[in-house]
Amino acid sequence: IEPNYESMSKWAANYVANRIKEATPTPEKPFKLGCPTGSSPLGLYKELVKKYEAGEISFQNVITFNMDEYVHLPEDHPESYHSFMWNNFFSHIDIKKENVHILNGNAEDLIKECEEYEAAIEAAGGIDLFMGGVGPDGHLAFNELGSSLASKTRIKTLTTDTIIANSRFFGGDLSLVPTQALTVGIGTVMAAKEVLLVCNGHHKARALRHIIDGSISHKWTASALQMHPHSIVVCDEAACDEL
Ligand code: GLP
Repeated sequence: IEPNYESMSKWAANYVANRIKEATPTPEKPFKLGCPTGSSPLGLYKELVKKYEAGEISFQNVITFNMDEYVHLPEDHPESYHSFMWNNFFSHIDIKKENVHILNGNAEDLIKECEEYEAAIEAAGGIDLFMGGVGPDGHLAFNELGSSLASKTRIKTLTTDTIIANSRFFGGDLSLVPTQALTVGIGTVMAAKEVLLVCNGHHKARALRHIIDGSISHKWTASALQMHPHSIVVCDEAACDEL
């Protein structure tokens, strides 16, 4: 628990940077990092960029797999998760383009796209550290309430709550928010060696209570992390209002 968003982001960035450095990644043995989108990890990405600019860390031998992407939103749309990742992180560090993996929500065969994504994670040897955020309803990636806790990468229909929450990125117009997304499953995240969630703000307090203090439930899908041997939640004081 950190006092505020800034210190939460710094703590998380230090943790991630140390993990990458300790692993001493090489082209033969890269570090595999899972990446989230949303406003919560923005500070974490900013701090990681600062560390790169200060020469403290390199992403040359880091391979990334993003959590999710909207279905049928053009890749170059400002609110696509492709745009988000390049604008807020990848364009500012030395990552190689071929090492970036983001689901293609415009693929002709979306089922095949999900299967191939899951296979690519496996072929890379699994994810070393999956970073994540949490929706106000406790969802992880786009694993909406009711998602199987064993789920793998697949298509999900977004709940009305998520569409409302994400409409702020689409000028508040619900009709502009995509209704479906491709997302890694809870099982995909659980298979990572380590998981680190960032969670801030009073509007996440109810979710955090259910995730940490509640029972493991597909109604609060991030609660599955209680079963993960190496999962960490980094949060600010406001998110702890109901703990
Ligand atoms: C979306 C993303 C999630 C993210 C959530 C919360 O639903 N798919 O991965 O955790 O939003 O976003 P924010 O951090 O902006 O509250």
